[in-house]
Amino acid sequence: MNKNFVVVKDVGKRVHPCYDEVGVTIVDKRTWWKEAVVYQIYPRSFYDTNGDGIGDLNGITAKLDYLQELGVDVLWLSPIFRSPNADNGYDISDYEDIMAEFGTLSDFDRLLKEAKARGLKLLLDLVVNHTSDEHPWFIASRKNDPRYRDFYIWREGKEGAPPTNWFAAFGGSAWKYVPERRAYYLHLFTEKQPDLNWEEKNVRDAVYAMMRFWLDKGVDGFRMDVINLIGKPDVFEDAPVPPGETYGNGFAFIANHPKSYWYLREMYDEVLSHYDVMTVGETPAVTPDVALNYVADGKPLNMVFQFEHMDVDSGKNKWDVRPVDWVRFKTIMSRWEEGLADRGWNSLYLNNHDQPRSVSRYVTRSADSALRRRGAKMLATMLHLMQGTPFIYQGEEIGMTNVAFPRIEDYRDVETLNFYAEGRKRGVAHEALMPSIYAKSRDNARTPMQWSHERHAGFTQGEPWIKVGSNYTEINVESSLSDPDSIFHYYRALIRLRKRLPVIVYGTYTVYDLDHPSLYIYERKLNGDALLVLLNLTETVQHYTVPSTFYGHQAELILNNIEPLAAFWPYINGEVAPDLTLHRLTDLTFAPYEARVYHLVSA
Ligand code: NOJ
Repeated sequence: MNKNFVVVKDVGKRVHPCYDEVGVTIVDKRTWWKEAVVYQIYPRSFYDTNGDGIGDLNGITAKLDYLQELGVDVLWLSPIFRSPNADNGYDISDYEDIMAEFGTLSDFDRLLKEAKARGLKLLLDLVVNHTSDEHPWFIASRKNDPRYRDFYIWREGKEGAPPTNWFAAFGGSAWKYVPERRAYYLHLFTEKQPDLNWEEKNVRDAVYAMMRFWLDKGVDGFRMDVINLIGKPDVFEDAPVPPGETYGNGFAFIANHPKSYWYLREMYDEVLSHYDVMTVGETPAVTPDVALNYVADGKPLNMVFQFEHMDVDSGKNKWDVRPVDWVRFKTIMSRWEEGLADRGWNSLYLNNHDQPRSVSRYVTRSADSALRRRGAKMLATMLHLMQGTPFIYQGEEIGMTNVAFPRIEDYRDVETLNFYAEGRKRGVAHEALMPSIYAKSRDNARTPMQWSHERHAGFTQGEPWIKVGSNYTEINVESSLSDPDSIFHYYRALIRLRKRLPVIVYGTYTVYDLDHPSLYIYERKLNGDALLVLLNLTETVQHYTVPSTFYGHQAELILNNIEPLAAFWPYINGEVAPDLTLHRLTDLTFAPYEARVYHLVSA
């Protein structure tokens, strides 16, 4: 036991309320998607069963037992639909068929059936701000076929130039000229991702029919790609161009346009309200107040993905890498926790397929693997103990890290490749560009899942579509499963704890000492049941006197990332916990990246 705990007495047989016993009485209304933990799968990089070097649906089915062991409830699959892969499936050419490399519709049906058999729900990625330029709708639209003419956003140019000066998200202009139509089409992302025209009722009806197609098969909801961009302004105007730049930011006119709310309301009324589903909208440029327009009671979505906390290590853009500003991070998270409390619901994430690996981003860059593991567990504690639905991204649960491929040829992501090409065109040296790519490239998240120490980390028998991270002999599922103190087992513990303690899901959130640069301290409370979460965000030892509200209180340490996990399992499993001891909270010392979760006994 840590020296600074004062042992008061053994806990003995005290058992905490769990959902099965009294859960229903302590929360008015239980909601499955609030209690759930979601696991995101990037199918291309998850598990390959046919040796083509690309993950597939059968690979997901093959790993369902692993996911069940982790304890997650819902799987979100990044796009699995037919696509030419200009943006790895976020450019869809057929919404009702499966990407050839991933398998067939019958593979999907089997996956769904096997997932359900294990009690796992499935979310699909709804990418309907844009399609692929190879979608039959676009092919017909560019030919001016009257049935599809207005399916996309076509405008005439201005004196030989595009209709506005807006940039596209991954570089260049947001407009592309098509001689056949003598007009430009809008693409907020790559030119192979033309934006759909949501003004057109036929577009909306086609999207709703497609949603019903999947929901009627039994899928349990959608993650909705950039869904707050679907509504476009009536008039398109130029945006201010910052000095030294070529383009202006058209997203500022588009994000959260009132028409997006209107379309989502219609989507809810016509489709979503008829099913018991989970919905989470990806919404760049939202604050808690704006988010309430989507997720407050009676609004069309359950949750949104906000991005504010993803910017705390960036300067003028994502590639301009800065040290993490933890006070800013805590302030943002607390603003969201407080802003949506009782009125909406938060999604909680640190990783996804667009973000670098959290353990490399927020935790030590030193090579000390013990510290890195502890840091990964600290981050997991932070996220899973807040109010909201936690999202785990594949590989996060084993502490997968960023990669650093010295050659640009080893990168695959269109955003990364465009950033590099533009930089080189401006005369920036390779060596000056790569550090940003090492820190922020989306490919950091997209390297193959590290299953074992075998060749290609056991991901494929063939040649992987992108290189495997070089540390796979150390960081992999096989070794995580066999080590009782691995990051994997810590995630299992967090998920179990959530199932056991309603306060983790439904309790209020109060932050303490928000300005503390190194510690994150917050309390969760539900009907007199209270948890205190204390996290050392840094690589240095921290001394801390607990706030007067708690000073001298007795508390049980119910989870810690330094003690062996074995000490906590009896409590987590709801069994008698002979080893769990009471401590008095006074002056505490935290090891680097230490995380503690106390149950406040005398609260
Ligand atoms: C957000 C997705 O997460 C990202 O991967 C994609 O490139 C863009 N939307 C465009 O669909």
